[in-house]
Amino acid sequence: VVALPSRGPLSGRHIIVTSGPTHEPIDPVRYIANRSSGQQGTAIAAELRKLGARVSFVTGPAEVPPPEGVEVIAVTTAREMRDAVEAALPADAAVMAAAVADWRVSNASAQKIKKDGSGQFPVLEFAENPDILAWISKLAKDRPHLVVGFAAETDDVLHHAQQKRQRKGCDWIVANDVSPSTGIMGGHENAVILITAEGTESWPRLEKTEVARRLAERIANKMNNPAQ
Ligand code: CTP
Ligand code: CA
Repeated sequence: VVALPSRGPLSGRHIIVTSGPTHEPIDPVRYIANRSSGQQGTAIAAELRKLGARVSFVTGPAEVPPPEGVEVIAVTTAREMRDAVEAALPADAAVMAAAVADWRVSNASAQKIKKDGSGQFPVLEFAENPDILAWISKLAKDRPHLVVGFAAETDDVLHHAQQKRQRKGCDWIVANDVSPSTGIMGGHENAVILITAEGTESWPRLEKTEVARRLAERIANKMNNPAQ
């Protein structure tokens, strides 16, 4: 048993964090997914917990283990993630760090699809997954006071992220450039731009744990001084 703080600037607050990828089955042995190690979401959940928050950690199949002291709700698909987030409400804040698959395979097979040597290949059909961030941001009842989304982009990062913030209706967006040349995907560092109603801030390239620490601190400040 690990001793965790019950006091701190976020004590008494409940925060939902989504993390990791979702896996959308093609058949019982195959799936489609976004790349995500789960490192950034896991680090954020850990830091929020350190500041005293009660954290509901809704995670897809990530590479890194969940942090100590949080309630872990393990899911596989985007629809399971949305249902788990809904079940965890109400919350004071929500941080959506998951790399949710945008589409699921609508003609997924209950049996393993076999190579039959005929030269014919399976044709996958797709349906759009629920957008969990947009859905929670627009809730009429039970909307968390602070909703934070992420925007992983490969070009025009600021422009795409600002549009995403508007479109989805979240309060903050943490934007980053995930072009392969940055090495951010799967690496230990991140370089983010924080977009709020007040403007944008570029943070230096930092360890993902340090990005998480600063973000948790900002969340605590915002929740304790909502007018700022
Ligand atoms: N997100 C979500 N549910 C989805 C897709 C995305 O909750 N079905 C959240 C992510 O967790 C992230 C934010 O929305 O916080 C932005 O995700 P991103 O993939 O960058 O945005 P999309 O709207 O899916 O746009 P894109 O076409 O660029 O993938
Ligand atoms: Ca997406």
